[in-house]
Amino acid sequence: MVDVPRPETPPGRVLVEVVTAAMNPGEIGIREGVFAAIWPAAFPEGQGNDYSGVVAEVGEGVTEFRVGQPVLGFAPRAAQAEFVVAAPSALASKPAGLGWDEAATIAGAGATAWAGVGVVAPQQGETVVVSAAAGGVGVITAQLAALRGAHVIGTAGEGNLGYLASLGVTPVRYGPGLLGRLQEAAPDGVDAYLDTFGAGNVDVAIALGVPPYRINTIADGNAIRKYGVRSAAQEQADTPEIWERIAGLAATGQLVIPITRAYPMDQIQDAYRDLGTRRVRGKRVLHVMSPERRSGLLAP
Ligand SMILES: NC(=O)c1ccc[n+]([C@@H]2O[C@H](COP(=O)([O-])OP(=O)(O)OC[C@H]3O[C@@H](n4cnc5c(N)ncnc54)[C@H](OP(=O)(O)O)[C@@H]3O)[C@@H](O)[C@H]2O)c1
Repeated sequence: MVDVPRPETPPGRVLVEVVTAAMNPGEIGIREGVFAAIWPAAFPEGQGNDYSGVVAEVGEGVTEFRVGQPVLGFAPRAAQAEFVVAAPSALASKPAGLGWDEAATIAGAGATAWAGVGVVAPQQGETVVVSAAAGGVGVITAQLAALRGAHVIGTAGEGNLGYLASLGVTPVRYGPGLLGRLQEAAPDGVDAYLDTFGAGNVDVAIALGVPPYRINTIADGNAIRKYGVRSAAQEQADTPEIWERIAGLAATGQLVIPITRAYPMDQIQDAYRDLGTRRVRGKRVLHVMSPERRSGLLAP
């Protein structure tokens, strides 16, 4: 971490004091150079995209937001910082019933899940498989598909099978033999497959007979090229209107966003080590704002 000057608030922009910033596995890839061709990194630089916070200043001409307003938003490679300069179009209001940590994940994992569910469009009574259904994107994907009336089968490791069942999702263990276990869990077939992990899930979906236009993956570029399956992700649900709809579901308890652990900023290295294990139940987040300052904010 490095100290940088507090940013100015240009006309037409909003300065947000960040409360919580989400963490996503892609950020590890960017830092390690995996995506250097599309997202080169030069250090020191910002990290993190989705966050919640409080409006600290509004620039000249901004009428949509007021100082002190709780918000959530998306600030590409800039969110894990005390202050974010945002366009009003990159912010949504945080509903009162939604916690800061959950709110911080809406414009990232939430929007990614929303986009995938949108393109495969589960119908009432259909059977839908969600891979890595206890993961950050997966746990939201599974619940959004269930809210559309689908029967959802979710894959997870041993430790998350019971949790998925508690959400009303039929749990199936991932790993060797997955195809057979899914066939057993869905004797009448699978209508749609939402892959949030990669690693052969799209091959399994094809082997189950799911048509490519009803398969979405956010983690397997090769499968997209090979089978012509869908690839809707965060960029396809990147609007405050969608964030507000997801936030509304979470604020009213229709959608649960489990927070595995929140880390203070001085433990950011541990936080990313843990994220890199790819074992989780929901989201890991960073508490950017100090506990003292945070406790002075209005609940939650
Ligand atoms: N393009 C975009 O806009 C976008 C946005 C967000 C994410 N993504 C990508 O989507 C993927 C998922 O992101 P995420 O944030 O949901 O990740 P995450 O929270 O780290 O997900 C981890 C989950 O993966 C499960 N898992 C581990 N090994 C597995 C295996 N061999 N097979 C199936 N599942 C396994 C784990 O299950 P257990 O804990 O139950 O063992 C865990 O719950 C990442 O590749 C990420 O880069 C893309």
